[in-house]
Amino acid sequence: MPADKSADTLPGVHELIRARWSPRAFSARDVSSEDLKTILEAARWAASSFNEQPWRFLIARKSDPEAFANMLSLLVPANQAWAKAAPVLMIMVAKRTFSHSGAPNLYAVHDTGQALAHLFLQATTLGLHAHGMAGFDRERARKELNIPDDYDFGAAVALGYLGSPDELPEQQREKELAKRTRKPLSEIVFGASFGEPFAL
Ligand SMILES: Cc1cc2nc3c(=O)[nH]c(=O)nc-3n(C[C@H](O)[C@H](O)[C@H](O)COP(=O)(O)O)c2cc1C
Repeated sequence: MPADKSADTLPGVHELIRARWSPRAFSARDVSSEDLKTILEAARWAASSFNEQPWRFLIARKSDPEAFANMLSLLVPANQAWAKAAPVLMIMVAKRTFSHSGAPNLYAVHDTGQALAHLFLQATTLGLHAHGMAGFDRERARKELNIPDDYDFGAAVALGYLGSPDELPEQQREKELAKRTRKPLSEIVFGASFGEPFAL
């Protein structure tokens, strides 16, 4: 990992969380079926409202060139430019309604995001990297990937081993090497009333 991609956290944060980041440079090395299964198993064990497990994963591996080219073509060009190097692409979808009642599940996409966080961290433990993407054509994806109306879109994901930033176009190389930043806790953590400072 490039030295300064590790998150500059307060002490005590787990090394796995510090080490996870979203690269654009992926190497050609494939992800084993075993690792892919482990990563999805980790995602499967995320918490969800009513234990609905609304997440579904559509996966295209480069070893299936037709499926891979089709999923890649759904990404916006800026994402295609780097995601084409990754050996695995996914699109996550979230079941909009509860199976037990048919009522809307307002946390479907939220919980699918939790599954994505599990996926990210498990990938990190295996020496892999994953990069989420909102930039893809949902209308085309629904049609071409046969996604039923009862499913909303989560993120697309590129998964693989880290590659060399030298392979990236100039602008993306800069982002790849830039220091990672976050808002300060004071901006995102409040007391019991919105905006009220909370002493940490
Ligand atoms: C749901 C989601 C959608 C994202 N969409 C894109 C995207 O379309 N293109 C892209 O290059 N990065 C995308 N990202 C990556 C974010 O820009 C990245 O996570 C953020 O800048 C923080 O960087 P880090 O993951 O390295 O900590 C997305 C991330 C998430 C979680």
